[in-house]
Amino acid sequence: MAKKKIYITREVPEIALKMLKKYKDFDVRMYRGDKKIPRRILLNNVKGCHGILSILTEKIDAQVMDAAGPNLKVISNFAVGFDNVDLKAAKERGIRVGNTPAPEVSQSVAEFTFALLMARTRRIVESDRFTRLGKYEEWDPLLMLGRDVYNKTIGIVGLGRIGQEVAKRAGKGFNMKILYTDIARNPKFEKEYKAKKTTLPLLLKNADYVTLHVPLLPATRHLISTKELKRMKKTAYLINTARGPVVDEKALLKALYKNEIAGAALDVYECEPAIDCDPHDRYELRKLSNVIITPHIASATIEARDAMARLAAQNIIGVLKNKKAPALIKIK
Ligand code: DGY
Repeated sequence: MAKKKIYITREVPEIALKMLKKYKDFDVRMYRGDKKIPRRILLNNVKGCHGILSILTEKIDAQVMDAAGPNLKVISNFAVGFDNVDLKAAKERGIRVGNTPAPEVSQSVAEFTFALLMARTRRIVESDRFTRLGKYEEWDPLLMLGRDVYNKTIGIVGLGRIGQEVAKRAGKGFNMKILYTDIARNPKFEKEYKAKKTTLPLLLKNADYVTLHVPLLPATRHLISTKELKRMKKTAYLINTARGPVVDEKALLKALYKNEIAGAALDVYECEPAIDCDPHDRYELRKLSNVIITPHIASATIEARDAMARLAAQNIIGVLKNKKAPALIKIK
């Protein structure tokens, strides 16, 4: 009997391979280059595949699906976000699409959001640089002043799994007032964590820390732009661990240069992997000391990445073996 071909587009934790290889009728291959797979190789290597385990750096569009051909039944994206997969093209071809919203991912992203929030407000990165440069000469009452987090207001844009984990830490750990926006109200959560649903303008006006946890959709692209940044307090910080294009980076740069907000901490970028969309722009994120920039690592813990690998493999097994696939996306 011909084996079912499964292609993994980049090295992922071994657990995914182990789980898939348990099935003797699966032929599992993984791209092991240390950079992202070149498009040409991707199109060639997916030929005849029944399942693709994809990474968010690969655009999985109609061309990839057609290169795989009619055997392709499932695309399992190793990420919570799935903006790199053309859902419409998948639906038209009868291909199921899965993602990896494991609880461990929500926890690690929430922890990282807090790490960024704390690091920005307490100027940890700046202080580290300052100390390494030998600039610390003596204790100074005004050196590297930041702002407290305790009792402040956090504005959570998107109260999904990750937004809720952030809210729990904010409420229980730091006694913060929680404002949130979401398409749906969550009365149970509101009660338990004293969270309050509000509008985006009011959230921006009142929050000391604004943190983004929405997926990238046409409706959320540039959700935060000039008008929204102007609504924020001059003393407030913006944290983005969601997707870069949710923020209009040009507008953010302007606001940061003009000190219209106190600062930002970013793990994702509008033109990712480029940090600045326009390298010739006179404004550059990399030059600003009121910004922390990290390389899209919010879910980079062993626990989260192993859980993502397991879920990604289970989605493929579920579809190809007619079992329950734990995280398939409902495509409208
Ligand atoms: C995701 O899962 O969507 C992240 O951006 C990578 O963990």
